[in-house]
Amino acid sequence: MGTDESSHSKRKKVTRKKKKNGFKKFWRLGMEDQNTSAFDISADGELTVREGNYQYNIFDIVKKYGTGTELFFPTIVENRVRDLIETFNAYIKVLGYKGKFYYHYPMKVNQNREFVLPAVAEGSNLDVGSANELFLVKRMLEQEKFHSKMRVICNGPKTERYMDLIEELRGKGLTVVPIIEDPVELERMQKFKGPVGIRVDLNVKVKSHWDKKFNRFGFTEQEILDLGKIRNLSVLHYHISSQIENVNGLVEPLKRALQLYAKVKEKNPGLDTLDIGGGAGVPYNKNKRFYSGKNLIQKLVKTAKTQCDSLGIRHPNLIVEWGRYVVAPAQITIYKVLAEKKVLNKGGNKWYVVDGSFMNDLTDTWALKQKWHVVPVNNMNYSKLDRVWLAGSSCDSDDKYTNGGSYVLLPRLTDVEELFVAFFDTGAYQDSLSSHHCLLSSPLKLMASNGEIKVVRKRETPEEVGRQFGW
Ligand SMILES: Cc1ncc(COP(=O)(O)O)c(C=O)c1O
Repeated sequence: MGTDESSHSKRKKVTRKKKKNGFKKFWRLGMEDQNTSAFDISADGELTVREGNYQYNIFDIVKKYGTGTELFFPTIVENRVRDLIETFNAYIKVLGYKGKFYYHYPMKVNQNREFVLPAVAEGSNLDVGSANELFLVKRMLEQEKFHSKMRVICNGPKTERYMDLIEELRGKGLTVVPIIEDPVELERMQKFKGPVGIRVDLNVKVKSHWDKKFNRFGFTEQEILDLGKIRNLSVLHYHISSQIENVNGLVEPLKRALQLYAKVKEKNPGLDTLDIGGGAGVPYNKNKRFYSGKNLIQKLVKTAKTQCDSLGIRHPNLIVEWGRYVVAPAQITIYKVLAEKKVLNKGGNKWYVVDGSFMNDLTDTWALKQKWHVVPVNNMNYSKLDRVWLAGSSCDSDDKYTNGGSYVLLPRLTDVEELFVAFFDTGAYQDSLSSHHCLLSSPLKLMASNGEIKVVRKRETPEEVGRQFGW
């Protein structure tokens, strides 16, 4: 009898485990190649996330703090920066590449202090795109947040204020490398005493969102060659695009850039670094296979070595400015489903209305038709699912998420007491692009670190939002 009972309970356990893993797989959690390895489902069907041996129950968190809420994990930034630097250095060693590797975190991707400092702590240098971002670097320097050996690459158009700050920080001993964008900047840089870079608009087309017909950045390859000697030139820089869809989209530009590098170096012996910009993507769409960072890095180092050897040039130092790749997976955005609405005369689509705005909080949904990985935060092991579209809370017809006109699968609302949904990989770009359409408040921002939850940005009150508009 005793034996029977125990084997029965064992069987039950196995079934439950299998079922739980089934749901985990269904919602694409716990997968290294999807950047969801830290996420899991609790026995009660709630979304959890691990940080080392700490664990957070996201449903409990939103019950306590409310929604819309952004939840951010600095450990993920730290791990991704460390891993990126280590992987580059490992392949450099294994493949016998002679140049050095430097990671520069591009601040434009997420300027929140809580994202920038963990990256710096793991050995990241910085890339800024405006005077205001460089002003934050000045602040960090004054607060002795980093070692003055850190290098800052300065992209973007150089206003007077931007140039003044570059000079000021150089005077304070920081290595600041302005990237020359156009002939006017080239002229102004004649007086600059430190190393400079120049940006090239490479003549290559890759699979990504950016239509190069409308590129306005940098010089053409021929223009750079025609310049001949460029004063204090140390870095050749390009940035092809963001969220590049395949490995070749990063490898082919590298080959082409090295050919140019070899020619530019003939007249500029001080040139020793190639900055390949950003572009490494993340698998937002969990149904499509995506390249891994490791594979991409291996191909890049290998390509750089082979190409330099065939050109007979010394291997340059390599810089990458991958932003999205590092910070997108470090944040999720959570909303509560407020209501269900069936629009009968428009194909009978079922809408779930959420307590936040895609146009405001996840602006790329609207701007780039960005697809997201969406999962329920509770009722995750509930198998009756509906195909729905999601509606934001602003009264704008564009405030919606339809997964590209397809559908989002979520638990049937009529069957559950309440439902929260999480959008993954929201750590890149969305914060600084966010807005206040219909004067909705921005989401609360929480940080999960060392097993504790900290409020990083309070939910905006009506007074605070009104004040921004002069009320
Ligand atoms: C000059 C430069 N570097 C780096 C980046 C970061 O790109 P990503 O987030 O695709 O890595 C950008 C983004 O637009 C950029 O303009």
